[in-house]
Parts: sequence; C-alpha cells; structure tokens
Amino acid sequence: MEIIKTIARLRQVRARFAQVGLVPTMGYLHAGHLSLVRLARDACDTVAVSIFVNPTQFGPHEDLDRYPRNLERDFQLLQAQGVDLVFVPDVAEIYPDGYGTYVEVQGVTEMLEGAARPGHFRGVATVVCKLFNIIQPTHAYFGQKDAQQTVVVRKMVRDLDLPIEIVIGPTVREADGLALSSRNAYLAPDERVAATVLYRALMSARARYEAGSRDAEELRAAMQAVLSAEPLARVEYVSAAHPLTLQELDQLDTDGALLSMAVRIGRTRLIDNIILCDRQVIRDEYSSGQ
Ligand code: PAF
Repeated sequence: MEIIKTIARLRQVRARFAQVGLVPTMGYLHAGHLSLVRLARDACDTVAVSIFVNPTQFGPHEDLDRYPRNLERDFQLLQAQGVDLVFVPDVAEIYPDGYGTYVEVQGVTEMLEGAARPGHFRGVATVVCKLFNIIQPTHAYFGQKDAQQTVVVRKMVRDLDLPIEIVIGPTVREADGLALSSRNAYLAPDERVAATVLYRALMSARARYEAGSRDAEELRAAMQAVLSAEPLARVEYVSAAHPLTLQELDQLDTDGALLSMAVRIGRTRLIDNIILCDRQVIRDEYSSGQ
C-alpha cells in the first residue's frame, strides 16, 4: 500500500493503472467505510482511498477543529483490506494560497442538509470534483448514510460529464440500529443510548408505510413523535422527500420516499435516512453496490 501526500506523486502512480475505484473519506474509518472499500475491491483492479478533512464543507461554527482523526489506525485498517493507494494531502495541497474556484450543484442542495448547513455542498462538490480530477477514478464509492450527498455527487457527475461510475453502498449499522458515523465518537454513554432514537423513528415511519400509509405528513409525524419522546434529542428536521429530486412530498407515489432527519443528541449532530420504495429502479439508484 502506497501512502501519497502530493498531487504530483499521485499522478505518477495513477498512470500505472487502467481502472481505479476511489473511496473518498475524511478518515477516522469505521466498518461503513470498509464496506465501501470491499465493494471497490470486488469491482476494480486498483483501490484508492482518500483521507482529507475538507475545511470548505464545514461551517464557521461546526466541528472542523475537533473532527476525530487517527491516521495510523486508518492506515492499518486500509492495509488489512488490501488497499493499493491512500491519498492524504494536507490542506495547502488541495487549497493552495489564492485558491478561488468552487463547484455549485443547483436544484438538490438548497434543502435538508443544504438548508441546515449553508455552503456544505459547495465544499463537498468542490473537493469531490478535485479528487476526481486528481485521482481520475473509473469508479467512486459513497455511503447511503449521506443520502443527499449521493444525489449531489451523481448530479455533478452527470452535469459535468465526468466519466466515473458512482456506486452507493448501504448504510452500515450497529446492532441496535445506530448508523455508523465518525461523529458517534463524540457521544457520551447516555447520549449513545439516546442516539438509537433516529433509527427507531425511521422504523416507526416504515411500519406506517408497510401498513399502507402513503401520506407523507403522517410519516413525518410518526418520526417526529418518536424523536419528541427522547429528552436528549433536539430535532433539526424530519423529511419525507422524493428520493431523487429531494422535494418534500404530500403523497408517496410509486417512486416512494427518502425519509431523513438531522437530530442533535447533546452537542453531536447526527443524520440518518431510509428509502421506502416498491420500485426496483429507485432502489437501484441507492443500492447499486449491493
Ligand atoms: O462523506 C464524506 O466523508 C465527505 O463528505 C467526502 C465525500 C469525503 C468529501 O469530503
């Protein structure tokens, strides 16, 4: 496994390989990231992982400074997965002095995480576009846990004609349903218990859907009711939106819905989502790696 810090060296090494599967990450890796690495391993000759805590996707009052980091552990985990290349640039390599070009994806970034975190998706799209240009992967892997990010990246790839196959891997969960996230490391023991409320809320709405409800407001209310019963939870949003356009729904049709939420448990902001849909074509968009 080669650990690479500069764009120049990355380009030299990249030239040796025809096919590269990229898993972009911000490090502090967990089983969710490793499941994406395995998807890449199964499909591509060469697997590259980037580790870069991207400052442009954090707001001024967000957790950039305290975002968890452990590069040595990350390298060991990636080595054990047979990863070929790890790209670990520093901030000045990606955003040198005088940097001034940003990617704005319109139409799917104004709502949900985009509304709660202004500028977040501009930072994500910019860094992902730069990583794509630097590494030139043939395939790139993202987790469904960041559902809106997957929609934004797919749209950017379509709109900018980037010749990259985007693969979405399923959310990996703890036994009690909590979606794996590097930010789970912030949770105190009582908060860790409370954090299961996101999954319980999603399951409550899914039960309504399976019982026949197609009323989006009823599904949002079902999630809200479960979240409201948890004293440590502060809800930022709950949503039942179209899975591809991300527009809030009144009634679910055959395209189903993306149920999603952002909830603060203490100081920690958690997100989670599930797709409700009977149609294979929508599920495929979200689970092309399964
Ligand atoms: O999902 C993440 O970890 C980040 O948003 C990404 C895609 C690596 C871009 O910084």
